[in-house]
Amino acid sequence: MNDKQLVALHAARQVHNDMVVGLGTGSTANYFIEELARRQTEENLHVTTVASSVVSTIKAQQLGLRVVSMEHISHIDLYVDGADEVTPELTLLKGRGSDLVREKLLARAADHFIAVVDRSKLVAHIGEKFPIPIEVIPFAWRLAKHTLEQIGGQGDLRKNGDGLAVTSHGSLVLDMVFDPELDASILDAALNATPGVVEHGIFTGLTGVVLIAHEGQIEERRAP
Ligand code: 5RP
Repeated sequence: MNDKQLVALHAARQVHNDMVVGLGTGSTANYFIEELARRQTEENLHVTTVASSVVSTIKAQQLGLRVVSMEHISHIDLYVDGADEVTPELTLLKGRGSDLVREKLLARAADHFIAVVDRSKLVAHIGEKFPIPIEVIPFAWRLAKHTLEQIGGQGDLRKNGDGLAVTSHGSLVLDMVFDPELDASILDAALNATPGVVEHGIFTGLTGVVLIAHEGQIEERRAP
């Protein structure tokens, strides 16, 4: 069993009967979805799920999980998802996929948000390994990019083959690099205040617990 699978299985043990559970997106989240489906079949676990992406919806449905659409929920009990970067303050960078809007909605709606990662995701500061994904309204991308450049951002639209990447929300994505000295919560606020930005990949103050797997062991870090 690899570390991503191990940590996903550990998180799945936090799921109890009659919970409404948010399903993340990505390879670690996929292991979590598979484990929920296994527990449903073998342990008679009864859960309702809400997915953060079309791909996770399809996966959960194919495995026989009950999936409701986001329109039907106002809060959820638990959200489990991976991340691309995790800082010592438990700020996350997410969004290498294309589902930031639903991911952040579920993270905010959850009583408990458990992030599941392997040790390769630990960083000293947000943006250390990846640019910040920033979803922008298609017609506003140049205006938003110009505003972001004024606070030191550099980058461009994410490509997908010969075309542009489009999120499941229908947005374009700017992948932008900022000054590493810029505090993540300040950058978070600046991005939130940029007209034309739909959502972005910095998740500040949303994660209660991060489970970190490394060589078969799991470390649990809790937000202060
Ligand atoms: C998708 C995400 C993923 O959770 C993140 O990219 C981690 O993926 P993986 O579990 O495959 O390493 O934020 O938008």
